[in-house]
Amino acid sequence: MTEPLATPCLLIHRDIVRQNIQRLADYAAQHEIDLRPHTKTHKSQLLAAMQLKAGAVGLTVAKVGEAEVMARTGDDILVAYPTVDKPRTRRLARLAQHKTIRVAVDSTVAADALAGEARRVGTTVGILVDVDVGLHRTGVASSNLALALAQHVDRAAGLRLDGLFCYPGHVWDRPDGQAHALAQVAQTLAETLDLWWRHGLEAKIVSGGSTPTAYQSHLIRELSEIRPGTYVLNDMNTVRGGFCSLSDCAAQILSTVVSNAVPNQVVLDAGSKTLTSDLCRPAPDSGHGYIVEYPDARIPALTEEHAQVDISRCATKPQIGEQVTIIPNHICPCMNLQDSFWWQEGDATPEAVRIDARGMVS
Ligand SMILES: Cc1ncc(COP(=O)(O)O)c(C=O)c1O
Repeated sequence: MTEPLATPCLLIHRDIVRQNIQRLADYAAQHEIDLRPHTKTHKSQLLAAMQLKAGAVGLTVAKVGEAEVMARTGDDILVAYPTVDKPRTRRLARLAQHKTIRVAVDSTVAADALAGEARRVGTTVGILVDVDVGLHRTGVASSNLALALAQHVDRAAGLRLDGLFCYPGHVWDRPDGQAHALAQVAQTLAETLDLWWRHGLEAKIVSGGSTPTAYQSHLIRELSEIRPGTYVLNDMNTVRGGFCSLSDCAAQILSTVVSNAVPNQVVLDAGSKTLTSDLCRPAPDSGHGYIVEYPDARIPALTEEHAQVDISRCATKPQIGEQVTIIPNHICPCMNLQDSFWWQEGDATPEAVRIDARGMVS
């Protein structure tokens, strides 16, 4: 018998990843929407290459470090994050000398910073104007402000106005209850595009999308592309939100029962440094992840290296030394906490794969 993997560790099932990628690629092709997956979820060149092979038009990143890593795999990178400071804009301009680099911005400060660095190295950076469609995180607050920023970008040497950007991260309704919220997103985009058009500006790209809204993207006719990230691996957020089923979760944390000293409780070796402290957004009382072998168990508390598991409702109890499988609440930050994952294909012995952009938070 082969030795069990050292825990806690991250195991990713290749077949499920492949299915998740293909399903969304088929949907996007059917509705003639481009896919530009957000790679902050997996931070892996291997998974990004699979997404590109399945037809993605480019890759999305949040961080400049991720852009530098993903530019080794893809030629067309969107930074879905405002880059306002010199360390970021300088590195992006350098990258834009060899690759297509686009950045979503919501201020003239960000636009000017990018323009200055692009001019300095004799290149051009593509700009998408970020408009707020309801999350109230980034994005200019109105169509008129989006027009003013687009005109500013259009006049700036070193920049190329490529289009419009939004993130409907506030929409977490079940898929069949999203129509109203998505109609409001569509209205903001339509108003903005109309205003641009009347002022002689064109948006070649209209970028939006998230995992919760991914399969409803056709309801926003204005979109030319979508940027879901989590869909490739899924997690308890997407399961309990009604966006996928447990069998679509490709990533699991393997963990060992290390103590059963307290009655009705076992302790696992995966704490907040592995599972993160994120609660499940659609079910905040459900605990810190789902234990596949013990669906009636609940993880009410985490410390850095310990998960306390309430097993009072379990008919059979996990035994000390036993390995269990946890689906985390939010997979994206979990990927950022590991140097590598185990890549499982069928029954073969899993292979270790480096997580290329883990820890790259600038
Ligand atoms: C700007 C932006 N675009 C796309 C995504 C991907 O969305 P999801 O995590 O739902 O797949 C995110 C996620 O945080 C985001 O912040």
